[in-house]
Amino acid sequence: KKVVLAYSGGLDTSVILKWLQDQYQCEVVTFTADLGQGEEVEEVRPKAESLGVKDIFIRDLREEFVRDFVFPMFRANAIYEGEYLLGTSIARPCIARNMIEIAREVGADAIAHGATGKGNDQVRFELGAYGLMPEIKVIAPWREWDLNSREKLLAYADQHGIPITKKKDGSSPYSMDANCLHISYEGEELEDPWIAPKDGMWRWTTSPQDAPDSPEEITIGFEKGDAVSLNGQAMSPFALLDALNTLGGKHGIGRLDIVENRYVGIKSRGCYETPGGTILLRAHRAIESITLDREAAHLKDELMPKYAKLIYNGYWYSPEREAMQAAIDHTQQTVNGEVRLQLYKGNVLTLGRRSPSNSLFDESIATFEDDKGAYNQRDAEGFIKLNALRLKLGKK
Ligand code: ARG
Ligand code: SIN
Repeated sequence: KKVVLAYSGGLDTSVILKWLQDQYQCEVVTFTADLGQGEEVEEVRPKAESLGVKDIFIRDLREEFVRDFVFPMFRANAIYEGEYLLGTSIARPCIARNMIEIAREVGADAIAHGATGKGNDQVRFELGAYGLMPEIKVIAPWREWDLNSREKLLAYADQHGIPITKKKDGSSPYSMDANCLHISYEGEELEDPWIAPKDGMWRWTTSPQDAPDSPEEITIGFEKGDAVSLNGQAMSPFALLDALNTLGGKHGIGRLDIVENRYVGIKSRGCYETPGGTILLRAHRAIESITLDREAAHLKDELMPKYAKLIYNGYWYSPEREAMQAAIDHTQQTVNGEVRLQLYKGNVLTLGRRSPSNSLFDESIATFEDDKGAYNQRDAEGFIKLNALRLKLGKK
């Protein structure tokens, strides 16, 4: 028996590794992904080796993650419950796909993860895995063992000689998850929704108060709904998002503090930093505003909350997500052009948008000056009268 473990190298998943070996008497294969979380993933190798792991998979998924998951999601302008940009949610199907690939490669019959039984992540990992490999088995130690506190975990690590390496940057007390789209914080004082996060919790963005006093202007280029260039320079998906993160972080953009509804029914308070994603969303809406037909755009907006919920709840690999994606992608054929933005103290302001190839904006029609017959204002009278007909009938 073999099991592929999603391994971060931290305390929790190191204990899980040992526990799987003992409890299930199975060979553990580890998988660690670089999703742009800003940690040196190679550091997990000696740790996994010291715990007797022979097959250690470490993959750089940064481009794959942004190209195949983040960008398709941004084509939909997806936001959960009006605020959350789904930074953790969208990473899970990417990890699941790679775990299943590795399971097939090494002939494993199970996967294991370190998500708790109270959260969304367990659902996302597992629905993803079953959607890709129906016969796979899943082991979720948090739902099985009784190591339900930090002390018990530490005691277990101590008893079994699991090395506990303190993070160099002063380890954070929060439950965090990071990738190149966002970093999230849960737990500690955040468990009281009235209490503001402590100073020093935020890691990626300067506070808007401390952000530069002079605004910065940038230009983002789009092709078929995806960002392809920054300030005229072509960039790969990850490089572009990474550059936007640096810019957004500097200007205090993309902080969020919300109480959200988890799929399992729990209300949970979380804080998020999504600097690049916040810029990208504003830019994408701006380029769509001149390149999309009104009804196509409105249809997208009606689908969006449903699409966001699918991703939040873990249904990336579902027929309904694929159907919606096909419709969304179809609309993006004409979403080409450039957006000019200003970054200033926590804000992203649109300065301009243009699309030489696909603009639907017609100055000669829209003008407040003489339109030289492009639009006949007399037509509006009948248009309004017919639309008023049923309103009048109801008042008789
Ligand atoms: N609440 C967010 C979500 O469900 C973030 C979850 C963070 N996950 C974590 N393992 N700390 O998408
Ligand atoms: C967890 O419970 O493992 C993290 C939070 C979540 O998945 O929602």
